[in-house]
Amino acid sequence: MKKIIVANLKMNFGLDEAINYKNSINEKFDNLIVCPPYIYLRDMISDNYIIGSQDGYYIDKGAYTGEISFNQLNSIGVKYSIIGHSERRHKLFEDNKIVKDKYVACLNNNITPILCVGETLEERQNNKTLEIIRFQLESIFKDYKIENVIIAYEPVWAIGTNVTPTLIEIEEVHQNIKNIMNELNIETKILYGGSVNINNIETFSKSNYIDGFLIGSASLDPNNLMKMIKITM
Ligand code: 13P
Repeated sequence: MKKIIVANLKMNFGLDEAINYKNSINEKFDNLIVCPPYIYLRDMISDNYIIGSQDGYYIDKGAYTGEISFNQLNSIGVKYSIIGHSERRHKLFEDNKIVKDKYVACLNNNITPILCVGETLEERQNNKTLEIIRFQLESIFKDYKIENVIIAYEPVWAIGTNVTPTLIEIEEVHQNIKNIMNELNIETKILYGGSVNINNIETFSKSNYIDGFLIGSASLDPNNLMKMIKITM
């Protein structure tokens, strides 16, 4: 099985850089989902990858100044959305209730959500990792039954830090996520995100517990991204 690769471009690039990025991905990758800032979504639609968004708003339309709804995202061809990224949970104060509303709205608008879960450093040091992840998952899926889901395990302390858990630590969490989702009878793919780069992706991609990667900084250079995708194949 090819690994799923999600490029989260976060709040980077001017328009020229965005267009240049799109043009640089000059080979077709059917396992690549690129998530640009909203303003470049239409400029960056390409036959060579799938287009995704970094977020979306859970109400379809109305007086919500500055927001972009999943309904609107669907209307321009967005196929996937990142939901509950830790930067939104921690820097923009999204709680599990908002994350769930977004998750449901995303599906209602025919967009596949990529749900991010993960613990802070303090939670890990206090041995709370598995408990936190169970809580984040159950707050969405306990009373909401769906068929196939994509979860991204992103430890908050590994994002943008060049520090990653060991493969064994990642596998432990992924196995735990699998167990929780099995209890809920939900088929799940699990991606890993947090300081994935050209040096560590080969080791991680050999693991059967990792179905793909959510990549931030290392995805900002399209040539580097393409090299990384090829390493996983
Ligand atoms: P980095 O790859 O820059 O650590 O970011 C990970 C991330 O947050 C992807 O969503």
